[in-house]
Amino acid sequence: MKKLFIKTYGCQMNAYDSARMADLLAPLGYAPTAKADGADMVILNTCHIREKATEKVYSELGRLKALKREKPGMLVAVAGCTAQAEGAEIVARAPVVDLVVGPQSYHRLPEMIARAARQAGHVLETDFPALEKFDVIAGTEALSDTGISAFLTVQEGCDKFCTFCVVPYTRGPEHSRSPERIIAEARRLAARGAREIVLLGQNVNAYRGVGEDGKSWNLARLIEAIAQIASVSRIRYTTSHPRDMDDDLIAAHGAIEKLMPMLHLPVQSGSDSVLAAMNRQHTAEDYLRLIEKLRGSRPDIAFSSDFIVGFPGESDGDFEATMALVRNVKFAQCFSFKYSPRPGTPAAAAKKLVAEPVKTARLLALQALLLEQQDDANRAAIGKTMTVLFEKPGREKGQLVGRTPYLQPVHVQGGREWIGRIAAVKITALTANSLHGALLENLPA
Ligand code: 5AD
Ligand code: SF4
Repeated sequence: MKKLFIKTYGCQMNAYDSARMADLLAPLGYAPTAKADGADMVILNTCHIREKATEKVYSELGRLKALKREKPGMLVAVAGCTAQAEGAEIVARAPVVDLVVGPQSYHRLPEMIARAARQAGHVLETDFPALEKFDVIAGTEALSDTGISAFLTVQEGCDKFCTFCVVPYTRGPEHSRSPERIIAEARRLAARGAREIVLLGQNVNAYRGVGEDGKSWNLARLIEAIAQIASVSRIRYTTSHPRDMDDDLIAAHGAIEKLMPMLHLPVQSGSDSVLAAMNRQHTAEDYLRLIEKLRGSRPDIAFSSDFIVGFPGESDGDFEATMALVRNVKFAQCFSFKYSPRPGTPAAAAKKLVAEPVKTARLLALQALLLEQQDDANRAAIGKTMTVLFEKPGREKGQLVGRTPYLQPVHVQGGREWIGRIAAVKITALTANSLHGALLENLPA
């Protein structure tokens, strides 16, 4: 057996791709290992979203150089979005790299490995043959551990072209997989023990698959079909664009019990002028109206979002509008970032930059508010009974960790037989970001 170490950066789509790469390489005799030291092959599955993410790749390649000196036969591959965006630069800057493979070409890895063995120098594949990739991976049995909660990519790429974002360039144009293929994969994941399926796409709610009947399927219809799989109890989807939240999907939140009442719906900013400069194609008011519609469909729904502060031209007033929007919505959990100019994106050419200390101050203020809201949401759970899906043992003896419908981690005392099952838990306490509780079945009536 050869040892394969995959290090994954960035989003959940990369986590899904890493699992598929492991599946593809298993027939070649590669088995996953937990560290780069002593591995026969190392794959860095990279992220290009912000400058920091990209820097991490180069510093990791520096470390691998030393390991390869000890084990000259080690193959080093760079996959993912940095590979796509900077392939030529990577091989020029880091000669330790043998293979560069973009996110739409990794199905060619087995053939690339064979080529690397035959020829000196690097092997580089950064085309966009999206259809081909999904054909190949559909034929590969998911061998890697799927877990209780499993990712399933249904859509890739993005046609929105927000002016700050590299994704339309690194992942290419929008492409939806066929509904039959997705449903078959969901069944396979369920058969391997997955109780929760997370449908993934850079712009997942723009999903438009074409069924064997020639009809177009939207995300709502796909969710409805997956909800028919008996052992799948929870369905989530991420990441959505506000513009693509159609009425069918809004209605699905009210109609499909298995669809969890937690939605990641990035807004990025609460200022209309910043939203326009970002080419988000909606206003703050549009977003708030959408939130109301979703609450109308599913009153207990909670929201999470992504924010960028310090976008070029963002004034104090614009930032205040973001804070006002946050106060208005009350989010359960959010991600927030300082704007980072990315090569090749329209915003990178902007002149009216926000000074670094201003960006930092805004980020701190926003994060304090978001944390307060997250804390409020967690505190509100104390004393309630919530359904928890148990995913793994906890760090302490006899402890289990699971999640509520709102993705809050919950710790209880209980036996391992609960893993993969859903139970009612009485929430008793909150520490840091974790809830604690007791299994109702273990409590005296
Ligand atoms: N700078 C900062 N944050 C960014 N994001 C995307 N591009 C940039 C950038 N250039 C953030 C957005 C997006 C999340 C995945 O990353 O908030 O929703
Ligand atoms: Fe990173 Fe975005 Fe690529 Fe995901 S899609 S790996 S977040 S750059």
